[in-house]
Amino acid sequence: MEKGKNSKNIMDYATVTLLDAENAIEIIDQTKLPGTIELIRLKSAQEIWNAIYLLKVRGAPAIGVAAGFGIYLLAKEIETEDYEVFYEAFQKQKEYLNSSRPTAVNLSWALNRMEKVCIANKNKPVAEIKELLHKEALEIQEEDIRVCKSIGEHGLTLVKPGDGILTHCNAGQLATSKYGTATAPIYLGEERGYHFHVFADETRPLLQGARLTSFELHAAGVDVTLICDNMSGTVMKQGLVQAVFVGCDRVAANGDTANKIGTSVVATVAKRYHVPFYVCAPTSTIDLNTATGDDICIEERPAEEVTEMWYQERMAPEGVKVYNLAFDVTDHDLISGIVTEYGIAREPYTESLKEILSKRNA
Ligand code: MRU
Repeated sequence: MEKGKNSKNIMDYATVTLLDAENAIEIIDQTKLPGTIELIRLKSAQEIWNAIYLLKVRGAPAIGVAAGFGIYLLAKEIETEDYEVFYEAFQKQKEYLNSSRPTAVNLSWALNRMEKVCIANKNKPVAEIKELLHKEALEIQEEDIRVCKSIGEHGLTLVKPGDGILTHCNAGQLATSKYGTATAPIYLGEERGYHFHVFADETRPLLQGARLTSFELHAAGVDVTLICDNMSGTVMKQGLVQAVFVGCDRVAANGDTANKIGTSVVATVAKRYHVPFYVCAPTSTIDLNTATGDDICIEERPAEEVTEMWYQERMAPEGVKVYNLAFDVTDHDLISGIVTEYGIAREPYTESLKEILSKRNA
């Protein structure tokens, strides 16, 4: 376990690493950032479940990668040569990991992808299936890097040098394997001298914007300004923002999009001030089986995240009622475009999302 007061740059660390020889996943414990960069190892199903639930590893694509590595490690431990016995144990572990968080579809997407490897190779020896699971888990991670880079290229066509860009929560490198989704155009633009001015919403209650986005962008040398969530309207009204880029946890078939709580407020305000609002979405986050945002399960999290975290004393009176939804849904008519690795989907999303997915499946 490496622990330190950030002597190394956060950009030098991988968000999730498979340590196959040690039968472990190594992650940056994101609940400790930005104060301490601490790498922790996860081995058991419960450790992996807890790390996802407690947001030690978080962000839809990173959750998918962790789940892929996790189910591989757990499958590796199943001691049997019998496929049926192996598959039954695999499914149990899969269901358990899948229950850690409900909103980000990348979790079930990655687990289902791993399950398909078992089913497609059921006639092969279990040892060989385990090898194939290893390969698939690594491919999920490598694919994530390629996908984020492509999202960055498409996103970059929507902005120009010197633009102000606002983002909410953390859809950055810490939420993916590299580049991030909403931050991918920012990182690629930085490499190419675009010099964007980024505004990062702090993102109450868990402060992913303050603790993670402003941390990683600042470490990468990007001009980033941290603002309170309730300032996004003001910076837009002041003409400081030319585009909003956010990530997402699930895109429904009609384009309604779930992302960190507060995203829909930003989208509504952006419409008011005629600022284009873009959702950056790997196709793994598009869920055509979910018809509209109303069908997306929104995670509700413990009250303590609102009443007592991040402060030495309680921040709210004892016994006060708390409603702490972790995500909200942005209605599709507020979204100017959904930026995927295959291009940009626009209204009507029911058509354009299908078209994007057909490119992936071609
Ligand atoms: O609760 P979190 O921190 O996992 O929420 C993360 C977000 O809402 C991100 O914007 C989303 O997962 C996309 S990450 C590329």
